Amino acid sequence: MSTESSPAFTGVVALDGPSGTGKSTVARRLAERLDARYLDTGAMYRAATVAALRAGVGLDDGVAVTRVVETAEIEISTDPGAVSVLLDGEPVDAQIRSAETTAAVSAVSAVPAVRAQLVAAQRDLIGDGGIVVEGRDIGSVVWPSARPKVYLTASAEARAARRAGELQADVAAIAADIARRDGLDSSRAASPLTQSADAVELDTTDLDIDQVVDRLVELAHAAK
Ligand code: DC
Repeated sequence: MSTESSPAFTGVVALDGPSGTGKSTVARRLAERLDARYLDTGAMYRAATVAALRAGVGLDDGVAVTRVVETAEIEISTDPGAVSVLLDGEPVDAQIRSAETTAAVSAVSAVPAVRAQLVAAQRDLIGDGGIVVEGRDIGSVVWPSARPKVYLTASAEARAARRAGELQADVAAIAADIARRDGLDSSRAASPLTQSADAVELDTTDLDIDQVVDRLVELAHAAK
């Protein structure tokens, strides 16, 4: 709810960083606090990956993956209170989080034509702003004029422990998977995970979710 003292946020917040930094949770809560919309761009890459897996194309065949993603209809809600992704009209919220999808998403998101298509869709969704956008390349590629532009980090141990808690899985296996995905996401040729020079770095290792959200609310208000 907007109040006179705290009008709805009309800008664009870019939240980038590797997995396990708490990005999704804080991005959603930040959007709610700012009375803004929320866009999870990782969910779009994950939906594209579900499409590629269902089509059975080789994930190293960029041309085939691109063809599948071009014909897939990916719709995502920007309501922080009702996050959902549709692939060709079907909700795929569970499928996009499966181990199979998670293992394949770095390959799909490394295909330049897939990125071009999804970045264009993301820019359309951002539209006139009033939105918190999370991903890997929001401040660097998708919306370089976003303010604030924040890069979330956390120690490798903290990130693995958080993900293991979410997935109720083994910390060592999760740590290995995070390291593998970080390596792929940071080393790919097309828009790799990087920290923009003008991004504010926020290390969440020793902060709880509320502390991170409070700090982001301050940054968003200061950016007005
Ligand atoms: O945030 P996430 O873990 O759900 O993202 C899934 C994958 O998508 C991640 O391995 C990297 C990729 N991704 C990307 O390349 N660019 C984005 N803007 C968001 C996610």
